[in-house]
Formats: sequence, structure tokens, C-alpha cells
Amino acid sequence: MAHPLEELRDAALREINEARDEQSLDAVRVRYLGRSRGISAWGEQMKTLGKDEKPVVGKLLNDVRSAVTAAIEERAQKFRAQKESDALAEIDISLPGSTGPSGRGLSAAPAGYSGYLPLERGSLHPLSQMLERSIEIFRRMGFAIADGPDIEDDWHCFDALNTPPEHPARNEQDTFYLPDGRLLRTHTSTVQIRAMQAAPPPIRVIAPGAAYRRDEVDATHSAQFHQIEGLYVDENVSVADLKGTLDLFMRELFGADTAVQFRPHYFPFTEPSFEIYVKSKALKRGEQWIEVAGCGMVHPAVFEAVNNARGDDAYDPDKWTGFAFGLGMDRLAMILFDIPDIRLFAQNDLRFLLQFA
Ligand code: PHE
Repeated sequence: MAHPLEELRDAALREINEARDEQSLDAVRVRYLGRSRGISAWGEQMKTLGKDEKPVVGKLLNDVRSAVTAAIEERAQKFRAQKESDALAEIDISLPGSTGPSGRGLSAAPAGYSGYLPLERGSLHPLSQMLERSIEIFRRMGFAIADGPDIEDDWHCFDALNTPPEHPARNEQDTFYLPDGRLLRTHTSTVQIRAMQAAPPPIRVIAPGAAYRRDEVDATHSAQFHQIEGLYVDENVSVADLKGTLDLFMRELFGADTAVQFRPHYFPFTEPSFEIYVKSKALKRGEQWIEVAGCGMVHPAVFEAVNNARGDDAYDPDKWTGFAFGLGMDRLAMILFDIPDIRLFAQNDLRFLLQFA
């Protein structure tokens, strides 16, 4: 004959199965597991049992209680899942979304129509598109991505880059200084230093990011602009490697018939140094040479500054050579997309932005 506890268990399981909603399930739970009710009442009765019976009934009581508790939890779970799918069933995913802000194209409502209209799709800002394309080209050439802060100290921005204290770039007229003496980096070359501090050679990185200068804002100058810095340090790196890398980059970006010129220039942190000009028939402004980057061979003084900071001789200038470059992203995007004014990038005017959607 079944023990009364087993009978209680079977009755409870049956009722749990028959419960049609959370409310009736809860009633079953109270009836069987509630304080001094049903199964729980047996807990009280345990005290009255003899020494032989106690352990047997105790085990049975535990088994019955966990079986019933598990069954209730399982059923409750089912109700919750059902509730969720019922809620979702009320949403008609084939309905159009609400209207976008510009009221153009598909979203322009016919006169008198006040229902739902298709939601407009977003797209990347032209500068982001330019960055993605450029990064993709350098990735194929084996460059990894490095990063550094926009707010810098003047050691990373100037001293380590062999820029003497009296250099005009350090002037308050040219650089944004914070009250605590830090500054907004005036170029992404700071990341050259940070990358070399972080790892010994060989190193092959690009660092996309913003830079800041206190320029007079006009069609070609903005207080914030964007660069991709590049740094390649290894044994026997030469100017030929620098030329090959940037030639290939420009032709991948602007097309095979792009001409690239290296004109001698001066930067404190490279020697020799060059400015890079491009010209391409594929471009609207293709007939003129346009300056797009600065570059050169890493100056030995830069390696020495890094060694000092690292406290070792990892970048021994007698063993390692390297090239570095800084590409003007805004400039490249302006050429590629034929954008006449750099200020357009930051004005958030949909009439401008939608042309790149
Ligand atoms: N940092 C320089 C600039 O912003 C560009 C540059 C980078 C030049 C690396 C040489 C090497 O004008």
C-alpha cells in the first residue's frame, strides 16, 4: 500500500498538471506546501514518529517535497514563456515604422495621410567611411592598430618627438592647453611614442584618431581634424619602403592612375622628411597636386627618447630604422568625395550627410 505521503504527492502532481494559469497553480502550491498544510503538515508529525520510522519517513518527505516543488516550478516556467510569446504575438513585425525626421523620399507623407511611414536607414559619416577604407588597406599590408589619448602631456606631443622648447608648434597660439598644463594633441604622432614605449621592435602600427590645433577656422582648417599615423620599425627599413607603402596606399584609395609625389620637407622627428602630394584623373580636382600627408624616416633622437623612457636599449638607432607618416583624413575625404569645405563635416546638416548615405 502506498504511504499517505506518496498519495499526497500523486494528487499534487495531478493538480499541478491540471492548473490552467498562474493563479490556480499558486493555489495548488499553498494547498500542498503551505505552512502546516498537506505535505508540510507531515513535517510536524515527524516528531511523533518512532526511532525506526523517522529516517524512512524523513527521506520520503524530502523526496516528495522536492518532486512537488520542481513540478510547480516547471509549470510556472511554462506559464511565463507562454505569457511572453502571447505578448510578442500582438506585435505585427510587418507594420512600417514611424517617420524619420527629414520627410524626404519614401518618408514624405502624401497630403492628408497620417498613418505610419517607412523608417529611414542610417549610414556612416563620410569621415568614418574614409577611415574604414583606409584602415582596411593598411590592415592588408600587415599594420596593427594602436591607440593613445586625445589629452596628452607635452613630453609625448613634443619633447619625445625631438621638438625643442622654443618650437612654434608649442606656442599657446597654436596649441590648446588645459589649466593643469596638459594639452590636446596637435598630431597623432604621440602614438608613435606610446607604441614604442609599450613594445620592443619590430613594430608596424597605424593609429587613427583626432588632433587639435588653434587654427583660424576656414574652408580648409578646423580646430579638430583627423589623422592616421603610421609607424614601421624593423631592421633595414628604408625610404624605398616608405615610398612603396604610401604609393600603394594612395593607388588603392584613389585608383591605379594616381600619381604620388614626395617633396622634401622638415619635421623635427623625421630625417629625411617629406610632404606627399597626389594627383589623379579619377578625381574631380584631379588636375592639381594636393598635399595629403607628412612622413619621413624616424629620427635617431626619437629612438633615444623612447629608450630613456623605457629604461633599456630596445630601440638602438644603430640596429633599427623606421619610417613614420601622418595622413590627413579630412583632406583625403574632401578629395575623394569632392567636398569643398572642411566645416561641412561637423555641421550635422542632413542635406550634406544624405549625399553619402
Ligand atoms: N605629425 C605630422 C603632422 O601632423 C605628420 C608626420 C607624421 C610627419 C609622421 C612625419 C612623420 O603634420
